[in-house]
Amino acid sequence: MSTATPRPPVPAAAPSVRLIRHGGLCLRLRWRLAALRTLLDGHSFWATGRRPTQLSRMLSGSQVVVSAWQGSTLVGFGRATSDGVFRAVLWDVVVAEEHQGRGLGRRIVEELLASRPVAAAERVYLMTTTGEGFYERLGFSRVDSQRLMLKQSSG
Ligand SMILES: CC(C)(COP(=O)(O)OP(=O)(O)OC[C@H]1O[C@@H](n2cnc3c(N)ncnc32)[C@H](O)[C@@H]1OP(=O)(O)O)[C@@H](O)C(=O)NCCC(=O)NCCS
Repeated sequence: MSTATPRPPVPAAAPSVRLIRHGGLCLRLRWRLAALRTLLDGHSFWATGRRPTQLSRMLSGSQVVVSAWQGSTLVGFGRATSDGVFRAVLWDVVVAEEHQGRGLGRRIVEELLASRPVAAAERVYLMTTTGEGFYERLGFSRVDSQRLMLKQSSG
């Protein structure tokens, strides 16, 4: 007989957390670049210290942007770039720590995947340092046959 301790029930995401898939201008986020910076600075390790002007350009260069709000507080974010046919890449998926483990990250990724530019791509890639298990739960597979190559910009 198994003696495994049953997992405690996972609390559902607060129903008040609202997801927005942004239009091309990302107006709501552009008005709240300080909130985006706070989320990335506080809850990611790779996207800290990005300046508002850089974040603004980043939004312009993304085909899909999803944000999650509890009231006026930004509690989650994710974005994607895509050529609309062959390749799409997910970037910067972040959920504020106090909202993690309640399905919000899944909702953000599913929203990105359901968007037209990403859904149309034959392959969707992402890079992750610590989120492998999370992305496996969402249907992604680790690829060992390819190498990640990097050229750091000098500017
Ligand atoms: C990774 C992150 C986006 C996940 O968001 P989240 O809202 O906590 O995740 P969810 O609650 O939607 O989890 C969805 C599923 O993935 C699983 N999961 C979540 N994080 C996991 C992890 N680190 N390892 C393994 N599985 C994980 C959950 O148990 C859940 O499984 P289930 O559907 O079978 O119940 C969030 O923890 C985060 O922002 N972390 C900090 C930034 C980061 O590390 N981002 C990853 C890119 S490097």
